[in-house]
Amino acid sequence: MENNFFDFGMIGLGVMGRNLLLNMADHGFKVIGFDKDAQKGAVLESSATYGTTVRGVNTLAEMVKQLQPPRRIMMLVPAGKPVDDVINDLLPLIQAGDVVIDAGNSHYTDTLRRINFLQPKGFHFMGVGISGGEHGARTGPSIMPGGDPEAYQHVKPMLEAVAAKVNGSPCVAHLGKGAAGHYVKMVHNGIEYAIMQLISETYDLLHLGLGLNNDELHKVYKTWNEGELQSFLVEITKNIFLQEDDKSENRLVDMILDKAGSKGTGKWTSQDAMDLAVPLPTIDMAVAMRDLSTYKDERLMAAALYKSTYGTIDVPREVFIQQLGDALYFGMIISYAQGLSMLYKASSELAMQIPLPEVVRVWRGGCIIRSSLLDVFYSAYQANPTLPNILLDPSIAKLLQAKRQQLRNVILHATSTGFPITGLMSALGYFDAYRSKHLPTNLIQAQRDYFGAHTYQRVDMPGSFHAEWEGEA
Ligand code: 6PG
Repeated sequence: MENNFFDFGMIGLGVMGRNLLLNMADHGFKVIGFDKDAQKGAVLESSATYGTTVRGVNTLAEMVKQLQPPRRIMMLVPAGKPVDDVINDLLPLIQAGDVVIDAGNSHYTDTLRRINFLQPKGFHFMGVGISGGEHGARTGPSIMPGGDPEAYQHVKPMLEAVAAKVNGSPCVAHLGKGAAGHYVKMVHNGIEYAIMQLISETYDLLHLGLGLNNDELHKVYKTWNEGELQSFLVEITKNIFLQEDDKSENRLVDMILDKAGSKGTGKWTSQDAMDLAVPLPTIDMAVAMRDLSTYKDERLMAAALYKSTYGTIDVPREVFIQQLGDALYFGMIISYAQGLSMLYKASSELAMQIPLPEVVRVWRGGCIIRSSLLDVFYSAYQANPTLPNILLDPSIAKLLQAKRQQLRNVILHATSTGFPITGLMSALGYFDAYRSKHLPTNLIQAQRDYFGAHTYQRVDMPGSFHAEWEGEA
C-alpha cells in the first residue's frame, strides 16, 4: 500500500479498538490498525466487511507512515503508563499538526498532563470518552471528545459517522476544552454506578421482599423498560434474569457472587466532586456499596451476630411494583442531576466550557446511561442552557413531585423490613435537602465557633462573628 493512504489509525486492537475501526471502515473510511500482538492485526483484517479497506500492521512505524497527514491516530489501550508508552513510541514518528487521541478511560488529570506535554511540540492531543462497550463500538457508541477545537475538526467526520444516531443526529459533539472529554466520561460512569446501584436495590426488594422468581423479575423489568423507565441498564437487566447457567441447573444471576468489582471511574467521580465541593451522595453511595460488598466475610459474621433476616413486604404485589418503579424513576433523575451539577461546576472551575445541552444530547444514544429521561433533560437545557441543576427545571420538578411519595412509601416498607436501600435513601435525602429553605447547619456553625472559634455569619447582618460561648454554670 502506498504511503499516506489511510484515513485513520488505531493503536490497540482489543475488543473496543477493533470494533471501532471496523465500524469506521463500514462507513467508507480507509483504516489501519496496529497492535503489539500481531495476531490481533490478522483478526482485524479477517473480521472486516467485504469491500472495505482495512489493514493490520505489525509495527507502529508502518502504520504511521501509511496515514495521510494530518494523521488521525487513536489509541485504545489500558489507562495509565501504557498511554504514556504509546505517546513516547509515537513521538519520533508523527509530525506537527497530527492528532493523537486517547479513547480509553484515562483520568482527566493525566490527559491534561499529556496535552501540556504534546501541545508545545505542535501535536494535537485529545481525550475522548467512548461509551457503549463492544456492541456500541461496533454499531454506534456515544462519543465524548474534548480538547482543541481545531483537532476536533480533523476527526469530526469519522466520529460522526461511527457514533450512535438518535433522530438522525450523531451522539458526538465537542464537549469542551482541555480534558473535558475524559471528564464528561468520568461523570457518565459516576451516574452509571448510581443507576446500577438503584436497580440492584429494586431487584433486592422484588426478589427477596416480594418473592418474585427470575421469570417474574424479567417481566417486571421488561414492563418498566416499555414505559418511562426505558433505558439501556433496565433493558439488559430484564435479559439477565433469563440467562441460564451453563455450569448448573440454575439461572446464572443466582450463581454470581455478591462482590462487585470496579475499574475506578466511579470512585474518581466521587473524589473529584469532594475537591469541587459538589454533593453527589447517590453516586458516592454507589461507590461505597460496591466497596461494602467486598467485605463478604465480615458481612457473613455480622449476619450471624445480628441474626439478620429480611421481613416480607406486606403490600399488594402490583401496588408495590408500581411504587418501586416510581422510586427508581425518581432516583434515576436525582443521579443524573448530581452528575450534571458536577459538570456545571467543573466546567467553570477547570475552564472547560462544557456545553451541558450537548452532553445530554450525546448521552441519548449509544452509551451505558442512555435512557428516555435524557430527552427530558435535553428539553430542560434547551429552555435554560445554563441551568446549574436540573432540579430547578419546572417540568422536572413536576416529575419529581409526582413520584416522591411513592419513594417515601418504598423507603418506609424497605427500612421496616431490613432491606439496605442506601441509594434510594440518599436520593430522597439529597432531594429534601436541596429543596430546603432552612437546613440545621446553623447549629453546626454554632458548634464550630464554640469549640474552635471558627466564626459564623448572621441572618440579619453581613460579616463574620465569634461569640464567647458560656458553658454550663
Ligand atoms: C462504558 C462503560 C465502560 C466500562 C466501565 C466499567 O461507558 O462503556 O462505562 O467504560 O465497562 O467503565 O466500569 P467499572 O469496572 O468501574 O464498573
